[in-house]
Amino acid sequence: MRCLVTGGAGFIGSHAVKRLLDDGHDVLAIDDLSRGHAEAIELLRPRAGGRLAFERCSIQDGDRLGEAVRAFAPDAVLHFAALAYVGESVQIPGRYFAVNVSGMLNVMHACHGVERFVFSSSCATYGQPPDEMIPIPETCPQAPLSPYGRTKLVGEWMLRDCARAQALAGEAVGVAMLRYFNVAGADRSGVLGEDHEPETHLIPLAIDAALGRRDALTIFGSDYPTPDGACVRDYVHVEDLIDAHVAALDALRPGRVLAYNVGSGRGHSVREVVETVGDVVGTPVPTIEGARREGDPPRLFADPSKIERELGWKARSPGLREIVGDAVAWRKAHPNGYSQS
Ligand code: UFG
Repeated sequence: MRCLVTGGAGFIGSHAVKRLLDDGHDVLAIDDLSRGHAEAIELLRPRAGGRLAFERCSIQDGDRLGEAVRAFAPDAVLHFAALAYVGESVQIPGRYFAVNVSGMLNVMHACHGVERFVFSSSCATYGQPPDEMIPIPETCPQAPLSPYGRTKLVGEWMLRDCARAQALAGEAVGVAMLRYFNVAGADRSGVLGEDHEPETHLIPLAIDAALGRRDALTIFGSDYPTPDGACVRDYVHVEDLIDAHVAALDALRPGRVLAYNVGSGRGHSVREVVETVGDVVGTPVPTIEGARREGDPPRLFADPSKIERELGWKARSPGLREIVGDAVAWRKAHPNGYSQS
């Protein structure tokens, strides 16, 4: 297949590019490199055998995007390009709507007629579900608490409405919306990893704090209604997440509209993550107790049974220790991230 990957130089997108190349597909990766890494693309070239093209282009530049997509003529699109920080989205919501909603419309417009569309949605679209809806099934009402979550929910609505209209017009396409839980870990072969600037994610920050490369980790909130007072999240290995995309691509047919949770089904508190990172690194993570971060729901973890039942997908590494282990291995091998790989 010919696969367009938006956000192909980012953390999740680059892992998708690697997997698609390894599976023998042709890939056009698009990224504006505002948060992605050209180095990640370069590291993948040797395994591509000429099947990897890269275009530095923002999804907000609809004209250039349209030209690049027309020239490549994809059979499938995996749309990862987005701004993805819950906390930042509260501070600059307009940018989040511009990139995640208007930018996504440009991608949809450029990809009109492409038969398969896989969208990175998020568990942030659920907001904080009521206790009886945890673990969270896909039928849980979607009521996001942050602008980020709202942009992803609007993305789902746009895709559903356009897929319906196209089907009525006799031009049916297949769309899949994958609601990610907390994606972490690193490529098991050690080529790719997680390197954000700014870094705001718990696991990489905790690793760097344990390795003495950052100040103490601030635990955001100790008074949540959870067993140890800290937020609970469902961590999923980035390679397992990509397996779910491959399963969705295989399952998509014209007229199918799929929505799945992609998580391990286990909830871990911030404190458990911090302890696991300390164990794996061999040095405790220095921490300080901080205030809650705005937009953070107290408790989120998936009921991933629908994707297992329908697509046969299940996390291969559901354990926190394996996820953290792969992230630590990459970070130790790349102390400065991609900048000095
Ligand atoms: N946390 C801290 N200290 C930090 C960083 C994070 O205590 O320095 C806590 C957060 O409050 C949260 C947990 O660790 O409870 C995980 O935070 P991350 O920033 O790693 O991840 P988020 O849960 O905020 O966000 C991630 C993705 C989003 C996705 C969301 C769904 O970045 O794209 O998971 O929960 F929508």
